[in-house]
Amino acid sequence: MAKETTYRVPEHVAIIMDGNGRWAKKRFLPRNAGHVQGSRVAEQICEDAWNLGIKYLTIYAFSTENWVRPEDEVKALMNLLRKYMKDSIERSSKNNMRVRVIGDISRLDEDLQESIQTLEAVSAENTGLCFQVAINYGGRDEIVRAARQLAMDAADGRIKPEEITEERFYTYFDTGGIPYPDLMIRTSGECRTSNFLPWQLAYSEFYFTDVLWPDFNKKELQKAIDYYNNRERRFGGV
Ligand code: IPE
Ligand code: IPE
Ligand code: MG
Repeated sequence: MAKETTYRVPEHVAIIMDGNGRWAKKRFLPRNAGHVQGSRVAEQICEDAWNLGIKYLTIYAFSTENWVRPEDEVKALMNLLRKYMKDSIERSSKNNMRVRVIGDISRLDEDLQESIQTLEAVSAENTGLCFQVAINYGGRDEIVRAARQLAMDAADGRIKPEEITEERFYTYFDTGGIPYPDLMIRTSGECRTSNFLPWQLAYSEFYFTDVLWPDFNKKELQKAIDYYNNRERRFGGV
């Protein structure tokens, strides 16, 4: 008799959506065409993730390092995010998604910050996919902001240094309250994490694929989950 195995769907998947520029270049298109297609894929993958049984999805849309890109590319990316946030305000009531933005949004244009706040507020009670979008996100920056807030609370006497535990510190993170990712996916062949969720990914399984983000789809997501199923997570045990 075959050994009985249970198929495990990761509760939380984090994705570094990489390769938009290369996808466009291959087609002799401007880089922005890759970003446009990439944002369509991001929208679709939310639906696919939920249908596959994933409860939390976190995607890397814009890093604290991405500001060094040419000004017109940064502008185009911000306009795409602007449109995404606006459209999602209505969409979230249909797809029941709870959307949160992680990262330091104070550096974004004010109208974009407002759209983000509206979207987070209108979708806060939704019970479907918990979807986190990382914008002006850097893992080191997140840790420093958390530490700064913690230090302020300590200085004001709200917390004693000996009360600081991993759990307590984590509540200061942008992702505080959200379970750590079980699986991290990076597309386009790069095998690095580029400052994405360094604390949260400490025990996650990593899946790297050569597929460029604009070509990613449900079948590729399924492959990543299959890979995850073949891993044995030990968490330091034997
Ligand atoms: C990922 O695609 C999207 C962002 C970083 C915003 P890239 O723009 O990094 O695409 P490549 O790596 O140049 O192909
Ligand atoms: C990581 O991709 C950031 C996002 C996907 C938003 P990059 O393309 O910016 O990463 P590097 O520069 O190749 O490490
Ligand atoms: Mg890239």
